[in-house]
Amino acid sequence: MQAIARAPVLELQHIRFSYDGVAVLDDVSLAVERGYFLGIVGPNGGGKSTLLRIALGLLPPASGSVLLFGVPLARFREWYRIGYVPQKATSFDVRFPATVAEVVAMGRVPRAGMFRRLSRRDWGEVERALHIVGMAEHWHTQVGRLSGGQQQRVFIARALAGEPELLVLDEPTVGIDVEAEERFYALLRTLNQELDLTLVLVSHDVGVIAQEVSQLACLNRRLVFHGPPEDFLVRPELLTALYGRPVRGITHGHS
Ligand SMILES: Nc1ncnc2c1ncn2[C@@H]1O[C@H](COP(=O)(O)OP(=O)(O)OP(=O)(O)O)[C@@H](O)[C@H]1O
Ligand SMILES: [Mg+2]
Repeated sequence: MQAIARAPVLELQHIRFSYDGVAVLDDVSLAVERGYFLGIVGPNGGGKSTLLRIALGLLPPASGSVLLFGVPLARFREWYRIGYVPQKATSFDVRFPATVAEVVAMGRVPRAGMFRRLSRRDWGEVERALHIVGMAEHWHTQVGRLSGGQQQRVFIARALAGEPELLVLDEPTVGIDVEAEERFYALLRTLNQELDLTLVLVSHDVGVIAQEVSQLACLNRRLVFHGPPEDFLVRPELLTALYGRPVRGITHGHS
């Protein structure tokens, strides 16, 4: 099925969702246009990760619809166009037998197809992705022997290796040190501005991501705000609506 070129990369329409009868998302509508760098912020339990899972077809919404590249989710097949780094991507056990390169190479499978060997070009993309996250020297390292922050970088590399058009990141910098975090945001900026990669990034740190993103969405069961971050920052009452109480200065993320 041919996706419609002008359609938003992702469109959520009137999404509702409950876990065991408790409403987690209430009538959330959001469009992510090509080239957006969208940041999603909100309190713990605000429904951010749930919304991403619904957007990626990993959870069915109770009602509402999802379109990816203009195609309704039920008919969407081009998953190689999307990269996803889940929140706290499962830590690998020290006995996990794969090397860093092998784990990142898994990110090529949706592009290469299950039934053919990876080509020289596929391995080239693996190398490029590891360079980007600063882990190239760990090519042969067993992933289970890396620190949590290093493993997180490997997960990001795995998503990048697939050369996605849309990259969805759920709190990717938790557990990464400040230097790596700064490099990471610089990287996202380059990917977004120079390579036209559309980004959706969930973060707790309103203060940091308001500086980075082109669009901000604030989620606390409902969509409290969606627009340019400058518009959010001049309306302190929105922080109260978002976190349910006044927030002194800017909130800072947990980890
Ligand atoms: N598998 C599940 N079963 C039942 N309830 C769940 C499940 N996953 C999440 N919830 C609940 O749904 C609500 C929203 O969770 P979600 O993980 O989407 O929030 P979040 O905004 O990503 O939070 P955080 O900032 O802590 O990551 C929370 O109240 C959570 O307890
Ligand atoms: Mg979450």
